[in-house]
Amino acid sequence: MHDGIHIGINGSFIENFVQNSGELKLLGKGDGSEVMLQKIKANETVIIEPGDNIELMEFFYILEGELELDDNKSKTTLKRGDYFYSHHLYDHVQFETKSQVSLLYFSTQPVFNFLSSTINELVELAHTVEKKDYYTHDHIQRVKDYGIMIGNKLRLSKEKIETIGFAALFHDLGKINVPDHVLNKPDRLTDEEFGLIKKHSAWGAELVSKTYFENLSKIIRQHHEKIDGSGYPDGLKKDEILIEAKIIGVADAYDAMTSTRSYRKALSPQDAVDELLRFKDKHYDAEVVDALIEVLKEENII
Ligand SMILES: [Fe+2]
Ligand SMILES: [Fe+2]
Repeated sequence: MHDGIHIGINGSFIENFVQNSGELKLLGKGDGSEVMLQKIKANETVIIEPGDNIELMEFFYILEGELELDDNKSKTTLKRGDYFYSHHLYDHVQFETKSQVSLLYFSTQPVFNFLSSTINELVELAHTVEKKDYYTHDHIQRVKDYGIMIGNKLRLSKEKIETIGFAALFHDLGKINVPDHVLNKPDRLTDEEFGLIKKHSAWGAELVSKTYFENLSKIIRQHHEKIDGSGYPDGLKKDEILIEAKIIGVADAYDAMTSTRSYRKALSPQDAVDELLRFKDKHYDAEVVDALIEVLKEENII
């Protein structure tokens, strides 16, 4: 996606999601927010759920049609020109369309991510990889959690932190192309086998490059790069590596070390931290390692 002003001519959109009840078009996105055009058929019930983040704000402006909003206390009929929004929503609310309705829908958190079919396919693929690579059960979720906590510690923008969450989800996607017996081999890998494993970051980058998530492509490609240039696939150094990739790299390494793998037992959190410190500024970004250590202390893990 390019910088600056974006112009949409009537009918254009970034991505489209068609469902039985109507369709949703993503018109604009930035800083973690999304603006959508939602068309809903008549006599459909739409439920607005509280988000994971209580600060979530969702705004609906009725462009055309009529609906009845039920906020669990009373019902209000709303039509063209009326609007409603949710903020600090603790319980679900719902509305029913009385005719075909067209809404301008704004959300301070990405909604589209969870709906688009390409995205669902990628998420499914990520879970397939987890099953395939037996020892990485729940690995992506933990990399995501640590990645987000490190991002918050480093006071990165909301958009960057959200990007880290999705990059974590998809970082090992390329392993789908690595044979199971190589992924789960209990003994030492041959050079050829290790070569195959090393390809997963570039393969993963390729998989997302033509989707809604093309902005994750570089991060995924770089998640095994190291500060001193000894990483793969491009041997990038220091600032050539994106901060998001450095964060995924550290969260990934920490989780790998503290998980039991086919070829070794798990290290204790403190031993894993000692290892990160030993390679701080060589393999791992110093600021990122320090941020993870702070997070682990806050969580009483070390
Ligand atoms: Fe990886
Ligand atoms: Fe990983």
